Amino acid sequence: MKDNIALIGFMGSGKSTIGRVLAKYLDMKFIDIDKMISAREKKTIPEIFEEKGEAYFRKLEREIVYEESLDNNIVIATGGGVIIDNENIKTLRETSFIVYLDCTIECIYERVRHSKGRPLLNVEDMFEKIKELHSKREILYRISADFSVRIDVESNMYDTAEKIKEAYIYNS
Ligand code: S3P
Repeated sequence: MKDNIALIGFMGSGKSTIGRVLAKYLDMKFIDIDKMISAREKKTIPEIFEEKGEAYFRKLEREIVYEESLDNNIVIATGGGVIIDNENIKTLRETSFIVYLDCTIECIYERVRHSKGRPLLNVEDMFEKIKELHSKREILYRISADFSVRIDVESNMYDTAEKIKEAYIYNS
């Protein structure tokens, strides 16, 4: 049954912050896949990438997405790369209303530029890297989503959460 909500979108698009607000609005439980991965490994995401590699991280991500999706009535904040694995999309399609937080590149950059917690963006030219990854992934976000919401620097997380809430209720 599709009674969960899964938020997908690029790093920095606001999946965790909006997810928390949305879960409150709908009286649902909130979970964050990256936090669960960290807790299971007792390591930060950069440490997992550094010590065990991206493939190991993706395997854990797939397992946790699957396990958590079995629960009902939850809002799931996924990691930005969740859509690169077909199994994740299959799992989320079966269990969740999938919402793409379609955040502009400028807005993404503003939000992540000072963060050190995202190993894939730990490069000299972060803006270029965001553009490159975003252009590869955008189609996957779009075709995976049941609903998309546009986000820019002016957007307010409460309004965004309200839009998602309405779409979810309308859809169920
Ligand atoms: C990743 C996004 C991150 C985290 C990891 C990989 C990605 O999550 O899962 O660093 O591939 O886009 P956020 O989207 O929460 O930053």
